[in-house]
Amino acid sequence: MKLENAVVFVTGASRGLGLAFAREALARGAAKVYAGVRDPSRFSEPGIVPVALDVTDAASVAAAAKIAPDVTLLVNNAGIAEVVESPFAEASEAQARRLFETNFYGVMRTTRAFESLLPDGGRGAIVNVLSDVTWRPVPFLAPYSASKAAAWSYTNAVRVALRERAIQVVGVHVGFIDTDLTQGFDVPKVAPLDVVRQTYDALEAGESEVLADEGTRALKRSLASPVAGYVDPATLDG
Ligand SMILES: NC(=O)c1ccc[n+]([C@@H]2O[C@H](COP(=O)([O-])OP(=O)(O)OC[C@H]3O[C@@H](n4cnc5c(N)ncnc54)[C@H](OP(=O)(O)O)[C@@H]3O)[C@@H](O)[C@H]2O)c1
Repeated sequence: MKLENAVVFVTGASRGLGLAFAREALARGAAKVYAGVRDPSRFSEPGIVPVALDVTDAASVAAAAKIAPDVTLLVNNAGIAEVVESPFAEASEAQARRLFETNFYGVMRTTRAFESLLPDGGRGAIVNVLSDVTWRPVPFLAPYSASKAAAWSYTNAVRVALRERAIQVVGVHVGFIDTDLTQGFDVPKVAPLDVVRQTYDALEAGESEVLADEGTRALKRSLASPVAGYVDPATLDG
């Protein structure tokens, strides 16, 4: 689908990757861009329409969908991350429930509320922001990774379910991005705008998946190996 004249709704658009998705949509000629934000009173971006949205609250999601009946592209970007001491830590179950509420159920809720609004015939699309941890085993991110793997699975089911209506569904896999979410992590990070540009290029080229950095591309290649990167991350080194 083309961004030109699209009507775009981005969840979690107050900052980070979501704000970059909203700004770049406008730069590529979108007719309207809605920013789904938890606090609209603190959002002020020329040309972008703030809409109150908390993806953990079904009533909030339903109200946002009512405000944006003309949407043609939904970007499920809102997400949270938490680190755990270990996959066995006592707190990890409560953390997993919190993470799933936003990263998995949030995507499901928003998709269910917006799907029927999207136009058929190649004019409607959904972008789901996933992660490289969908496939990469990181013990201190175990619950976060599980929430993204669940969202990936849901993304794939949604893609097949919407094929008949020719609604495109794009999954975005990426490692560390330079946003608030990775503050304090001293690791190589990609710029949000880089991820957004690759995603919109893929969308406009009719593709279904974005692998936004070399680490993620190597990981994906390893999935077909006898010892995939998710079994032994050491196979990815070098
Ligand atoms: N940064 C990375 O390294 C990285 C890597 C792979 C994937 N991702 C994914 O990329 C997406 C964006 O992350 P980011 O790096 O831009 O993080 P960020 O800077 O922390 O921004 C997160 C955004 O999500 C919003 N949000 C959180 N919970 C929400 C809720 N319940 N309802 C509505 N909005 C909510 C936040 O709103 P408030 O301002 O109200 O808090 C904020 O706008 C997430 O899905 C994340 O998992 C990030």
